[in-house]
Amino acid sequence: MCGIVGYIGHREAYPIVLKGLQRLEYRGYDSAGIALYNGNELRMSKTKGKVSDLKKRLESEIPTDGTVGIGHTRWATHGEPNDVNSHPHYSNSGDLVIIHNGIIENYDALKKELKKRGYTFKSDTDTEVLVNLIEDVIKNEGVKLGKAVQIALNQTIGAYAIAVFNKTKPDELVVARLGSPLAIGVGEGEFFVASDASPFIEFTNNAIYLEDGEMAVIRREKEVKIRKIKDDSLVDPYLQELQLNLEQIEKGGYEHFMLKEIHEQPNAISDTFRGRMLVDKGIIRMAGVDDNMERISNAKRIIIVACGTSWHAGLVAEYVFEEIARIPVEVEYASEFRYRNPVISENDVIIAISQSGETADTMAAIKLAKEKGAFAFGVCNVVGSSISRETHAGAYTHAGPEIGVASTKAFTTQITVLTLMALKLGKFKGTISNSDFHMYLQEMERIPDKVKTALESDAVVTKIAEIYKDAPNCLYLGRGYNFPVALEGALKLKEISYIHAEGYPAAEMKHGPIALIDEQMPVVVIATKKGHYEKVVSNIQEIKSRKGKIIGIVTQGDEEVRELADHVIEVPETIEALTPLLTTIPLQLLSYHIAVMLGKNVDQPRNLAKSVTVE
Ligand code: F6R
Repeated sequence: MCGIVGYIGHREAYPIVLKGLQRLEYRGYDSAGIALYNGNELRMSKTKGKVSDLKKRLESEIPTDGTVGIGHTRWATHGEPNDVNSHPHYSNSGDLVIIHNGIIENYDALKKELKKRGYTFKSDTDTEVLVNLIEDVIKNEGVKLGKAVQIALNQTIGAYAIAVFNKTKPDELVVARLGSPLAIGVGEGEFFVASDASPFIEFTNNAIYLEDGEMAVIRREKEVKIRKIKDDSLVDPYLQELQLNLEQIEKGGYEHFMLKEIHEQPNAISDTFRGRMLVDKGIIRMAGVDDNMERISNAKRIIIVACGTSWHAGLVAEYVFEEIARIPVEVEYASEFRYRNPVISENDVIIAISQSGETADTMAAIKLAKEKGAFAFGVCNVVGSSISRETHAGAYTHAGPEIGVASTKAFTTQITVLTLMALKLGKFKGTISNSDFHMYLQEMERIPDKVKTALESDAVVTKIAEIYKDAPNCLYLGRGYNFPVALEGALKLKEISYIHAEGYPAAEMKHGPIALIDEQMPVVVIATKKGHYEKVVSNIQEIKSRKGKIIGIVTQGDEEVRELADHVIEVPETIEALTPLLTTIPLQLLSYHIAVMLGKNVDQPRNLAKSVTVE
């Protein structure tokens, strides 16, 4: 939800801020803007649209010189995405300029007060209210920018990552965070600010991640001073060495990040189990589980909270945990869980799954469960993210940066981590036999190669995409472990191609969705030769007799479904619990190719953002 970038130092700020915004565009792309200060003038250009639109406009509108700059790429919350509502925003005097990721919930009340004091507003945004509130504090209390930001923020309710610049004090940049991420890159006499470290990775390896409720006054060529916003106490900056590299955040020859990330899955899955799974010794090492084994294995119940694709990974995990570790599992939409009055006890373990580690609803669900005494375990991809810090323990997926807005490798690596965890618990509790445990480890090790084979279906999938790209609707069916895969396949199709798609447990079809089936309706059926194969074949018969078009995802060598289906896509055979790691691959490719053929923006689908830091 919105990306922010800032620079203060000795280089020209514009190229750094512009490139930074391009890298953060996955966070929102309704509008973009940059403000630059050249020692004399503070200038700004902003526009509805993408960073590429901003570049065209800015370079013909304002000079690009200056060694201080802030920029923003927006996912609209308050006010429609238009030029005026784009960030940055000036204060009424024009001295202050701000960028903001988040929501100020009490902005309306603050705005009314400021209006009474003579302030006027050009935009509908909560952010313009905040910058004028800061200006008002400076005027009335005669304090410096840092103090004014602190006083103003203490009057707000909501979430923010902000950067504020005052042209009358041009060697300072003030930043703050609550609920939205903010990293400060520390270079030689220069500082960078961004929603994640990708904008400054080629300039410095050192970063400070602000914690919730902290703010920093950054002084050009000097220092970063961090304080708690609430009580003004000083915080020692904790400088982290970054693990990112430039190659990881570039497209590496692929046309889209999504395609690159689909193809990265064999390596991403290996990276997820590398160092954790010692097949020869028959051991799984996961520090977050090892250190809390009693607490987790004694759980009366595991509650999984997540959103979107991560929620689908949670559904797969429900089957895996119950099968292997024999612990009852509930899988909850974080957004529903947080606003119920859920029954949670100290014997519960809550597992929060989140690629970004920043999803607001998932974060709130963890806090609620912790308050009620549950043990919180995080499965995140982004190292150092808010959820990974809020949980008592956790395991990273190590998928590498996922930039395409539609999640792909995050899903398969989340399933990988959760399966390892279930196996580890199962072994500890004795609910899985040693021979089965070994069989799983050996098969897990083969999965990256099997994913490579599944990726070879690309040519077949492309042909199928060509045939069905204009279908207005599509059904996805699966059973058991592959029911969540059907949901995920449907989500992928709708989010990037805007085709209406529904995922269903195959046996539920006859309780309603079967009414939709006619000769126009493509139905993707996951029918691998495990589990409920025969029953799924019966469902295929039912679709066929109503003339639906069947795309079967089948095990290599399957003849029965091939006879019945209009098309089949083969994946290698594996243990039933691991089939989602393979069956999901052709579904990702299918949605990708359809979206490309329809000319959609695959990496940045409309109305979406990668990291949903508002509820
Ligand atoms: C779908 C997608 C979203 C995310 C959801 C949760 O492709 O990316 O549904 O899965 O917004 O995000 P995280 O995992 O970052 O909490």
